[in-house]
Amino acid sequence: MRFLQAGPLTAALSAVAGVASASVFQNHTYDYIVVGGGPAGIISAEKFAQAGKKVLLLERGVGPTVATGANETLVWNDELTAIDLPGMSANVGALDVWNEYMCTDTEGMAACVLGGGVTVNYMVFVHPPARDFDDKWPQGWKWKDVEPAADRLYSRNPGTLLPSADGKRYDQVLYNVLSKFFSGLGWKSVDMSAQPDEKTKVYSYPAWNVQDQKRAGPVRTYLPEALKLDNFQLALGTKVLRLIRSGSKVTGVEVQNAAGRTEVITLANHGRVVLAAGALSTPRVLWNSGIGHKAQIETAQKSGVSVPPQAEWIDLPVGVGVKDHPIFPIAFSANSSFGLVDYEGVLNGSDTRDISLYGKNSGVLTQGKHRMIFFTSEEIDGHTQYFQGSCAPTAEGVVTITSYLTHGLTSSGVLGLDTTGKTIFEQSPYLQTASDRKAARKFVQNMVDEITAPSTGFELQTNTNVSAILKAQTSGNHYTTTAKMGTDDGRYNNGTSVVDTNAKVYGVDNLFIVDGSIHPDLPTGNIQTTIMVVAEAAAAKILHC
Ligand SMILES: Cc1cc2nc3c(=O)[nH]c(=O)nc-3n(C[C@H](O)[C@H](O)[C@H](O)COP(=O)(O)OP(=O)(O)OC[C@H]3O[C@@H](n4cnc5c(N)ncnc54)[C@H](O)[C@@H]3O)c2cc1C
Ligand SMILES: *[C@@H]1O[C@H](CO)[C@@H](O)[C@H](O)[C@H]1NC(C)=O
Ligand SMILES: *[C@@H]1O[C@H](CO)[C@@H](O)[C@H](O)[C@H]1NC(C)=O
Ligand SMILES: *[C@@H]1O[C@H](CO)[C@@H](O)[C@H](O)[C@H]1NC(C)=O
Ligand SMILES: *[C@@H]1O[C@H](CO)[C@@H](O)[C@H](O)[C@H]1NC(C)=O
Ligand SMILES: *[C@@H]1O[C@H](CO)[C@@H](O)[C@H](O)[C@H]1NC(C)=O
Ligand SMILES: *[C@@H]1O[C@H](CO)[C@@H](O)[C@H](O)[C@H]1NC(C)=O
Repeated sequence: MRFLQAGPLTAALSAVAGVASASVFQNHTYDYIVVGGGPAGIISAEKFAQAGKKVLLLERGVGPTVATGANETLVWNDELTAIDLPGMSANVGALDVWNEYMCTDTEGMAACVLGGGVTVNYMVFVHPPARDFDDKWPQGWKWKDVEPAADRLYSRNPGTLLPSADGKRYDQVLYNVLSKFFSGLGWKSVDMSAQPDEKTKVYSYPAWNVQDQKRAGPVRTYLPEALKLDNFQLALGTKVLRLIRSGSKVTGVEVQNAAGRTEVITLANHGRVVLAAGALSTPRVLWNSGIGHKAQIETAQKSGVSVPPQAEWIDLPVGVGVKDHPIFPIAFSANSSFGLVDYEGVLNGSDTRDISLYGKNSGVLTQGKHRMIFFTSEEIDGHTQYFQGSCAPTAEGVVTITSYLTHGLTSSGVLGLDTTGKTIFEQSPYLQTASDRKAARKFVQNMVDEITAPSTGFELQTNTNVSAILKAQTSGNHYTTTAKMGTDDGRYNNGTSVVDTNAKVYGVDNLFIVDGSIHPDLPTGNIQTTIMVVAEAAAAKILHC
């Protein structure tokens, strides 16, 4: 029995695998209970199971693929959902399942579905450069230390710049226009996966998290291997409310099971809990368990959670230091003819040209949303600040560059909780420092100057000057650093760290965190690849400590 679920939610699953009543948990004790089936949770749970441990992976959401119970398949292919189809990823927010899959109790966007953000995201897959780790990660987490973990990930889930089986690239007008523009500025063409360290004045075909012409990620590349093992169980529709502790030892987890009932799942005597609920939700599990600053634990109590007695609270800076990449959207008409995929026609089956090509594992539907990704850097106030631009058509003849301030940014905020149990920003993580504001303005000004040079034929749209573009800043959805890893134990002397370099929570014997929460810094590009690399590396550390 590897899938566990109960109650009405699980109807879809009973056809897939044996389903037992909720109390099935009561007949087991687990070596590892992993909380959250996003990329970090699936990868780490699979590693623990491969090492022979008895593992339970708890995920609050449903499964997004046919193999994990989804039944909303395409009208023209009953093995695939719209989520699986790379060509639909640009329009994922318009799918019926979007509201079902997105969390409603987090500040900012996060997905509450098996696979986490990787199930709904835009699939940009940026292999991190060495410096992302070498700059601010602690000893034991420099690139030379994590590179073997990256190699393990890339051997199973490498991403691709050329997903179409016929070896052709489709819909290349925009790429051609932009590559001419950037090469005219003296920028260089690179392969962003093969040359990850080249991040200044470079552009690339986009690397997408696509494999076998489908959305890839741990739901497809790790979970099936775990499900083959008798010592691994996945429970969907099961939300962890809090940890049960006896002093410094976690003894079990309290969940709301798929039937809506509350129950406690017990840990083996030497068992461990590993949190992977995402950077915006792992803090809530900690606060609900009496771990964090007093104010948030008291708020958790007001939200109706039975937090432990105050004598057992562990004062750690949970939520302090939250970071994200701010986005500045730059839209312009490119004096050329390109458009969008006919999303409705793909869903209703009328776009027979693209659908029949996809039947041959080829065509535009094997590709993601973007047509070019570029990177650059600037020296700002004595440090190097990196930038990314993700370029996609957003209307007929119009391109939007989703431009991000990335590695090197110096701002952070504070994540907290409200009395409904929702996580909120007590302080925004965006543009808090003068050097970040300076960096953003300098980059946007440069881009605007180049785009509006008379020779280009380009014309800004929507936000037509630098101030308007800066004002249109949005979230990057690449949240980190809400339970920071480091050697300065957050319980003492104004220490800033919540987990040690084995990813173990300070002051708790058997509690670990493997998701974006522990990253001490932001990467140079979109974060999902780094999330997966770190989970691979953390699982190995946890197994050996
Ligand atoms: C709309 C969007 C677009 C994005 N686009 C890109 C992109 O193109 N490229 C890129 O690299 N990154 C992108 N990202 C970011 C990337 O997807 C995330 O950084 C990544 O998924 C984080 O992984 P995680 O494992 O740390 O947490 P998450 O992905 O958040 O996974 C956490 C999991 O835990 C589950 N969970 C939460 N609380 C509980 C609980 N109490 N009990 C049980 N289960 C729980 C959730 O349901 C979820 O499955 C995007 C994110 C979003 C939201
Ligand atoms: C738990 O084990 C007992 C004894 O083996 C058995 O009778 C019971 O049916 C089991 N419960 C579940 C839910 O599997
Ligand atoms: C599809 O699954 C949902 C639950 O995820 C269920 O409510 C619905 O009845 C299912 N539909 C079919 C046709 O099986
Ligand atoms: C299918 O989508 C196309 C848009 O591409 C639309 O013109 C057509 O009316 C739709 N057909 C049906 C049956 O909904
Ligand atoms: C815009 O496109 C038209 C038609 O292709 C072309 O004649 C014109 O020169 C272009 N303008 C610029 C400024 O490149
Ligand atoms: C910038 O654009 C906004 C609207 O897009 C406009 O309100 C504002 O006046 C413009 N500012 C300048 C300096 O042109
Ligand atoms: C901790 O920070 C406070 C406030 O900034 C300061 O007064 C105090 O001296 C610091 N304590 C230590 C041990 O550094």
